[in-house]
Amino acid sequence: MTSATLTAARPAILGGTPSVTLDQTEANRWPIITDDDEQAVLGVLRSGQLSISDETTALEDDHKKWLGVKHCVAHNNGTGAIHAALHAFDIGPGDEVIVPSATWWASVMPVLHCGGIPVFAETEAECIGLDPADVQRKITPRTKAMVVVHLFGMPSKMNELLAIARKHGLKVLEDASHAHGATYHGQPVGTLADAAVFSMQANKLVPSAEGGVFLTNDDQLWEKVIRFGHYERLLGLNTPSKRFAATGFGFKYRMSPLSAAVARSQLRKLAERNQRRNENCIYLSEKLEKLGIQTFLSPPGVQRVYFEFLVRADESRLGVPVKDLAKALQAEGAMVGAPRYPLLHQQPMFTDASQPGGPAWAKLARISGTPERPLPIYDPAALPRTAAGNASLLKLPSFPRGERRLLDQYATAFEKVLSHAAELPRSGA
Ligand SMILES: Cc1ncc(COP(=O)(O)O)c(C=O)c1O
Repeated sequence: MTSATLTAARPAILGGTPSVTLDQTEANRWPIITDDDEQAVLGVLRSGQLSISDETTALEDDHKKWLGVKHCVAHNNGTGAIHAALHAFDIGPGDEVIVPSATWWASVMPVLHCGGIPVFAETEAECIGLDPADVQRKITPRTKAMVVVHLFGMPSKMNELLAIARKHGLKVLEDASHAHGATYHGQPVGTLADAAVFSMQANKLVPSAEGGVFLTNDDQLWEKVIRFGHYERLLGLNTPSKRFAATGFGFKYRMSPLSAAVARSQLRKLAERNQRRNENCIYLSEKLEKLGIQTFLSPPGVQRVYFEFLVRADESRLGVPVKDLAKALQAEGAMVGAPRYPLLHQQPMFTDASQPGGPAWAKLARISGTPERPLPIYDPAALPRTAAGNASLLKLPSFPRGERRLLDQYATAFEKVLSHAAELPRSGA
């Protein structure tokens, strides 16, 4: 072996040459904005309809057609749509809503703003969604609903979760914000439960200039969502809700027509762009699986998508702690890192009881304790399986426009680094 070959075979962190040398800017650029997005926005801008516009109803129609759902209501963001959905589920003071801890806070915080109590359940290891067995254990007579998050684009175990919900009369909201275009046993996500929400914040698979949609087949849920945040539509309802037309229920969750224009234009490209991203992530996943990395490929009957590409790098299998692996891969030029979301049940909102009047979560839920019965705080050590699983996750780019050559360089970086696992520098606990 020549000395150049030897250096190439050595991890960069141990003095070798880096494996990932191609420019990654274009491979990972998102959102992808083209002339037709610009023309769509200009069209709405020039129409002068910047508040209420046919563009927004057209976006709703696009979703109804795409997903075969009866009702769609565009919102200014996904958070507002989740708030509206939970209001429509009649979540009120003391109602418990089962939620994952491994998600973005918007899946959970609106529960508190309805007066409800989030009850965190474990995340299962296969699809990184709510663990049906733990959901079952967490049900009490006060449980009213669950929020299911298709995390990073992987559909949760809906058959099992829906069976539990049916048995206990619970409403189910799909937070499908990460999963535009995923399917579950032939059915699109967003159509599997009582209602669904997609965020269209700019990182999402259907990006816009902030936006979200609420979807349901249920006339009553739809009406309540309209009442909650869309006062301008109340006059158009031929139902008793019309009497609230002068006030609505106090929120304004209408989507900007400029955002709707971006979202419509981006939705048209979803299938093609998902296909490229999926092919790239699956190509690299198959190589990484051979190295002992769990990549969350779609289980049978499921077609996942990749809002984010997270893999599990288990120290006991690979012989190196994930953070040291990440450092070695970064030295190779790979854009890897820890997952973005902290576990919610460990955050001060839920764990800090030091404030006068009780923990912050209880104030938002408008619940107070008494000296005899102080309010519980959430236990950061609860959900040990979720915490352990989360600690070994590694985030990769999702390569929306990556070329095979770049993916091969990533595969080489992993292979090289893992074949020197024992020698990689350790940073300690
Ligand atoms: C899982 C999840 N749910 C809900 C939201 C909230 O959406 P928005 O940012 O559009 O309010 C986000 C992200 O932004 C999310 O990641």
